[in-house]
Amino acid sequence: MAQLQGKIAMVTGAARGIGRCIAEELAKEGCDLAICDLKEEWLAETAEAVKTIGRKVKCIAVDVSNSAQVNAAVDGAVTEFGRLDILVNNAGITKDTFIIRMTEEDWDAVINVNLKGTFLFTKAATKPMMKQKSGNIVNIASIIGLMGNAGQCNYAASKAGVIAFTKSVAKELASRNVRVNAIAPGFIQTKMTDLLSEEVKQKMLEAIPMKKFGTAEDVAKTVIFLSSDASSYLTGQVISVNGGMLM
Ligand SMILES: NC(=O)c1ccc[n+]([C@@H]2O[C@H](COP(=O)([O-])OP(=O)(O)OC[C@H]3O[C@@H](n4cnc5c(N)ncnc54)[C@H](O)[C@@H]3O)[C@@H](O)[C@H]2O)c1
Repeated sequence: MAQLQGKIAMVTGAARGIGRCIAEELAKEGCDLAICDLKEEWLAETAEAVKTIGRKVKCIAVDVSNSAQVNAAVDGAVTEFGRLDILVNNAGITKDTFIIRMTEEDWDAVINVNLKGTFLFTKAATKPMMKQKSGNIVNIASIIGLMGNAGQCNYAASKAGVIAFTKSVAKELASRNVRVNAIAPGFIQTKMTDLLSEEVKQKMLEAIPMKKFGTAEDVAKTVIFLSSDASSYLTGQVISVNGGMLM
């Protein structure tokens, strides 16, 4: 039995990787979807998969760090589907280097997409959700936002920011029946982590008690849990999907 039958969900960064998998799992659970990424054509494969599952889908080109585009995207989704039940802030980037070499541009780019993007989408989605007196927001943070990582100070700061943002907004919206939670994935195999050297990957593997990397499905299943009534008494929480890498 689908857990989210007839719900309307919006997923950012849904063209590939974890975002695409989240969109597909939400569709399998009965959601119609507004899927967003930088370019509409990048969303074609995700859209096809959602349609094959038998759900409706709207593709929206949006840069999550651009407030006018974000507001238009959320308005467009609400106009198309009449409401918005679930928002998953998944779009994210890395620009890794040690602080000594990190440029102001590297810093701003990561903070703008990962943290400001989460703020802009959450603010825009809060309006219809408060009006409906229900909603569910899931922010994709990172284990790096909890433990830090050499070479990722911009990314770590952005994801720690997402976690603190999640807790603050959860406190603001709890009485409106809008829940806000975060997932902090550990090492998940995607195009983002494919960029790392074999040496770094091997070191990571050694630090994971379960001795395997996570999959996009591991994260997507946690999104389903946080979006459904199975987690109805959870808000402001951070679930770290990490194979035991951080306890
Ligand atoms: N892969 C991992 O190990 C891992 C671990 C922890 C957290 N995460 C987080 O999970 C999320 C997804 O990661 P992934 O591994 O699937 O990455 P990915 O690079 O495969 O996918 C990210 C998606 O976001 C989109 N995107 C980037 N900038 C955007 C913008 N400005 N506006 C709209 N869309 C934009 C990209 O086009 C892409 O489709 C990210 O927030 C990432 O930080 C990933």
